[in-house]
Amino acid sequence: MLDQSSSRVDDVRLQSFSVAYDYPVVFTQGAFGQDNRCLADVLTRREAGKRHRFAVFVDDRVISSNPDLTGQIAAYAKAHAGHAELIGVPVAVAGGEASKNDPEVVPRLLSQLSELAIDRHSYAIAIGGGAVLDAVGYAASIFHRGVRHVRFPTTVLAQCDSGVGVKNAVNSRGLKNLIGTFSPPWAIINDSDFLETLPPREKRAGMAEAVKVALIRDHDFFLWLEDNAVALARFSPPHLNRLIKSSAELHMRQIGAGGDPFESGSARPLDFGHWSAHKLEQLTKNAISHGEAVGIGVALDARYSVISGLLAKREDERILRLLKQLGFVLWHDALKQTDSQGRLSLLQGLADFREHLGGELTITQLAGIGRGIEVHAMNPALIGDSIAWLAEQA
Ligand SMILES: NC(=O)c1ccc[n+]([C@@H]2O[C@H](COP(=O)([O-])OP(=O)(O)OC[C@H]3O[C@@H](n4cnc5c(N)ncnc54)[C@H](O)[C@@H]3O)[C@@H](O)[C@H]2O)c1
Ligand SMILES: [Zn+2]
Repeated sequence: MLDQSSSRVDDVRLQSFSVAYDYPVVFTQGAFGQDNRCLADVLTRREAGKRHRFAVFVDDRVISSNPDLTGQIAAYAKAHAGHAELIGVPVAVAGGEASKNDPEVVPRLLSQLSELAIDRHSYAIAIGGGAVLDAVGYAASIFHRGVRHVRFPTTVLAQCDSGVGVKNAVNSRGLKNLIGTFSPPWAIINDSDFLETLPPREKRAGMAEAVKVALIRDHDFFLWLEDNAVALARFSPPHLNRLIKSSAELHMRQIGAGGDPFESGSARPLDFGHWSAHKLEQLTKNAISHGEAVGIGVALDARYSVISGLLAKREDERILRLLKQLGFVLWHDALKQTDSQGRLSLLQGLADFREHLGGELTITQLAGIGRGIEVHAMNPALIGDSIAWLAEQA
């Protein structure tokens, strides 16, 4: 607080208010079937008697995998014309990390929002993987200082993690998520039908975030993952749906009840395994996806937790076994890449993390299965040993 006794301070008034947020996360199938009321219900959830205008932005691979989708959305709007009005036609957005890397994407989205005359009482709906949701969510959050945003995550990763949270961002200046906002969405609709067209590699990648959140928060969920690893590796739909629901709930609980939804402090428990994952994505020029990098990052930090004395011996082997059973490849040569001075390039990931967060470096490690713990320094020699261990295991 300012010192009012200072001769330069005439007076101080403290402004203080809090804002409550809530948003539904709906689990459904066939969301654009005309008899499915989920979307109509979320659009009308605060103003029932009104007709709500909405524009739709869709991941282009979701469109190419579901050629009927745009027609279904138009038919849905027609069937629910009493409550909902589709503005224009669904707009295709290039899928994947390209949508976050390409500096033209956000300005284009803002132009489209403007052409479609989306205002603060109408909706920008995004359907797609985590990358498209991040880019459209960011544009929606700055257009008119924020318009209502509904997400339809279409990947395992986005349904079980990124799509149910409050963050969105694009990459800039070679840094992951450098530009973005904290902006709770209006609603999320997790439609499991979208996963049918998802390539196996993407289905698997998303499971890394479920393993991550089980490891830091929920021992029983980790046991369930171990018990059901074979079915999950086959992408059995009921198992995948259960994984998504449990993981989404744990992410929601951390954001809603963890005490720091907008990450003002230094701790980032949901970023367990991510200091190295983000760097690996960058070092490999996105040859490995976010989820695949998180799988490696989790395995690396599991080993680090053991050799730094935080986690009981052999628990790292158990974690590695689960990830391998799920089909993860837990090695990439970029792990041992060095810079011009012979230092491990991966270590720059820690510096990037510190710079991004500001304040004290805070990294989540494991004190047990289901129990994350914060540390404020990592030993580069032990990181090197952890990488060597991963190389042996691979
Ligand atoms: N905002 C957050 O809190 C948060 C959290 C975690 C991750 N993320 C971000 O999410 C992104 C990764 O998301 P992702 O794993 O969903 O990958 P992605 O968005 O890159 O999608 C992967 C690929 O699958 C395609 N695709 C998406 N849905 C499909 C479907 N149903 N059928 C066929 N193809 C489909 C996409 O076009 C893309 O080519 C990263 O940029 C990551 O940083 C954000
Ligand atoms: Zn992640």
